[in-house]
Amino acid sequence: MPVPKAEYLSSVWRDGIFENKVVFCTGGAGTICSAQVRALVHLGANACIIGRNVSKTESMARDIATARPGAKVVGIGGADVRSIDSLNKCVEQCVQELGAIDYVIAGAAGNFISPIQNLSANAFKTVIDIDLLGAFNTLKATLPHLIASAEKNPNKADNSCTGGRIIFVSASFHYTGMALQSHAAAAKAGIDALSATAAIEFGPRGVTSNIITPGPIAGTEGMERLGSRDAEASGLAQKKVPLGRYGSVKEIADATVYLFSDSGNYVNGAVLVVDGGDWRSPGGM
Ligand code: HXC
Repeated sequence: MPVPKAEYLSSVWRDGIFENKVVFCTGGAGTICSAQVRALVHLGANACIIGRNVSKTESMARDIATARPGAKVVGIGGADVRSIDSLNKCVEQCVQELGAIDYVIAGAAGNFISPIQNLSANAFKTVIDIDLLGAFNTLKATLPHLIASAEKNPNKADNSCTGGRIIFVSASFHYTGMALQSHAAAAKAGIDALSATAAIEFGPRGVTSNIITPGPIAGTEGMERLGSRDAEASGLAQKKVPLGRYGSVKEIADATVYLFSDSGNYVNGAVLVVDGGDWRSPGGM
């Protein structure tokens, strides 16, 4: 007798897989996070995106809502992930308007380049506060809803998309160290520890915690701030990546859909590096 399809094939990238699910995303007006949310909305989810800039966040929410007729996307601007009170208010508004929070993307980040000797204690703390404390605050504020979602949609070895998942959008440069990035590297190392601990503490409640680390992704604010225009124009920067090119935001969205879909049901405490092999070869070939 043939093996039933459901036993070897999941439902990833099928229209409607995220129907009745709600995504809460910090940094949702940014290039990478908006692509992640857009893919989830296209596949059936409703979403709430959080940002500091009011008009940018609201207009991105309207734009993402066009991904699917009938989609509801709420944009909450004026928020600051450094403040737990600010995040609690966003969570409250999201639940009031959309009814629940099933998936969380902790994507807000702050960055600038600076050598350690030019970095004031406050400058270091500013990035730690946005990247690491912001990630903690996002987890803390959404956790009761993640647990409730996991209870409603228990994690099973079948083709049901379970609820109660968080993805931290991080980086891989702290594995090797990176000049001019002491603040962000220290924060990203903390996010590794935070996500791993959350995976252990909340796995028994059915909540999964994972990290996606985008590498050099074309057209992003990160590349704008950290990349070298000369090296990019000559193609040298792209050649340094083992795959010989920059990634696309779609490739980060693909990783997100995988982790939130039933194909990712058993993935917990993982770091999914999506960087063309870049961090394995910091100096290039
Ligand atoms: C040295 C700097 C600095 C710089 C700010 N500071 N910019 N020090 N070099 N270029 C110092 C200030 O002097 C101050 O210290 C302290 O940092 C706080 O600065 P503020 O401007 O008051 O902070 P704030 O208004 O909160 O802005 C935070 C920010 C800003 C991070 C500095 O850039 C920001 O809002 N960024 C949000 C958007 C963003 O960064 N997106 C990039 C994400 S991309 P003193 O001592 O003077 O008080 C990303 C990808 C990275 O993260 C991974 C790529 C691979």
